[in-house]
Amino acid sequence: MKIGIYPGSFDPITLGHLDVIIRASGIVDKLIIGVLKNSAKRPLFTSEERVALIEKVIRQNSNVSNIEVEAFDGLLVNFARKKNAKLIVRGLRAITDFEYELQIAQTNHKLNPQVDTIFFTTSVEFSYLSSSVVKEIASHGGDIRQFVPEAIVQDIYDKFKSRSV
Ligand code: PNS
Repeated sequence: MKIGIYPGSFDPITLGHLDVIIRASGIVDKLIIGVLKNSAKRPLFTSEERVALIEKVIRQNSNVSNIEVEAFDGLLVNFARKKNAKLIVRGLRAITDFEYELQIAQTNHKLNPQVDTIFFTTSVEFSYLSSSVVKEIASHGGDIRQFVPEAIVQDIYDKFKSRSV
């Protein structure tokens, strides 16, 4: 069974992430979306919330059925080993992503030579998109409907509302 891991912060999941998830799920038997728990980025959503948001999005996408979502802590290669995954999936938006992604992929392969990273070039319409941009727009009450899956738009606005009271 070919198992892949798509790791990330997913704070929150965007349409760019969903695009990679759908395409990557087509080339593996099982795709595990690994949500990093202790991100130095001080996430907006807790890891439990981020997992729940992704699960909600996946449930509404009937064309994907081989996906699991799980939070992880520590090194990605250890999580991959635990899950018996030999493939790490990452999205590449632009050349600016490449340097960082190359370093991480090579480090992970050094740490565990059984693990390889494959990259999906992000679909052109999402090449500018990031979770940070979504948060910035939502924090100012802007329209995020074209950036994140419909199912979680309100959750994002609600999060900012709850933080401001
Ligand atoms: O969505 P992100 O924040 O770009 O995802 C980064 C992620 C989660 C893939 C990366 O930070 C990661 O794998 N962190 C776990 C620690 C680790 O294994 N680092 C790589 C070796 S230095």
